Amino acid sequence: MTQLSGSSDVPDLGRRQFMNLLLVGAGGGAVAGMLYPVINYFIPPSSGGGGGGVTAKDALGNEVVVSDFLSTHNPGDHVLAQGLKGDPTYMIVQEDKSIANFGLNAICTHLGCVVPWNPNENKFMCPCHGSQYNSEGKVVRGPAPLSLALVHAAVEEDKIAFTPWTETDFRTDEAPWWA
Ligand code: FES
Repeated sequence: MTQLSGSSDVPDLGRRQFMNLLLVGAGGGAVAGMLYPVINYFIPPSSGGGGGGVTAKDALGNEVVVSDFLSTHNPGDHVLAQGLKGDPTYMIVQEDKSIANFGLNAICTHLGCVVPWNPNENKFMCPCHGSQYNSEGKVVRGPAPLSLALVHAAVEEDKIAFTPWTETDFRTDEAPWWA
């Protein structure tokens, strides 16, 4: 069939190549457009402390309202929110019913499972390979090699601001492995 249309294929092919080039061009533009925010993302917004924070959001993407949150949670609760870079991050309700000034990145330091909080055991227990972390995220049982990463959690205008934790890890007195 294609052989029969023989000579008329030549201009067709040319046109097709041109269209292909256009598509590649358009695609390239789109890719550049998509890359722009990605590249921007990797350029730190501020290299000295302070910046780079996010407001804690719930599973639906709504900002957590602290007064509402505390009216439905109890001391000792560890509750997941979306944190820095969209990482699942625990907000912690303290004994005095305030929000702890640190949050915990829920990603297991072994192979990256999200570690659930087990209120009965008062520990985080990873279902993947059995690692455990205490209520402050300090590793207490392997194979996880490291404690859960910390972030700062500050209540501002009834919202929770997560910012990077770059200081000494108060649980180990060591430099933060994640910073
Ligand atoms: S990923 Fe958590 S123990 Fe392996």
